[in-house]
Amino acid sequence: MAFEAYAARTQEKMREVLMAPDATGPAIHYYMVRGGSKKHNVTILEPGTVGGEYIKTYGHYHVGDLDETYWFLSGTGVVLQQKLADPAQPEVVAEFKAIQVKAGESVYMPPGYGHLMVNTGPTWLVMEDDSPVDGADDSASMPGHADYEMVKKMRGFAYYVIERDGVPALIVNPLYKEVKTSDLGGLAIVS
Ligand SMILES: [Fe+2]
Repeated sequence: MAFEAYAARTQEKMREVLMAPDATGPAIHYYMVRGGSKKHNVTILEPGTVGGEYIKTYGHYHVGDLDETYWFLSGTGVVLQQKLADPAQPEVVAEFKAIQVKAGESVYMPPGYGHLMVNTGPTWLVMEDDSPVDGADDSASMPGHADYEMVKKMRGFAYYVIERDGVPALIVNPLYKEVKTSDLGGLAIVS
């Protein structure tokens, strides 16, 4: 299959990493137009919650030393970053970070830090990034430089971002055994 710039992430695919995999949600959670490091990539996240969890991107780790920057063009959200203590032990997180973001801001994704974006606002969350486009086949949907398997295995990151009393909060993902250090960006942990 030739490379196509457009791809969409469906509810069916997102079930793998949702806090509540059987909850009802929109057919498509987000839309991607991939132009790579030269033209940049644009991602548009639907607003809303699925089983209480705000709609998010799937999340991935980079293969190799790749870094990238995300520029937030519209909306409000939360970026989650986590670095594993050892890739052979995806259930132990060395460092976890939640960063609240809004239009006009940017976030740097250092090499080695898994990342995902969450839409916590009432409108689309629109972002641009400078990640390369590579890989064969369906590379617009699942780029070759990104590793999704550890996120799939752990059914998401160490915390889920949920809506509680109208504001975002964090819920522990029970599959993780330990988070050594964390910066929760002002978000409360609830149960
Ligand atoms: Fe990335």
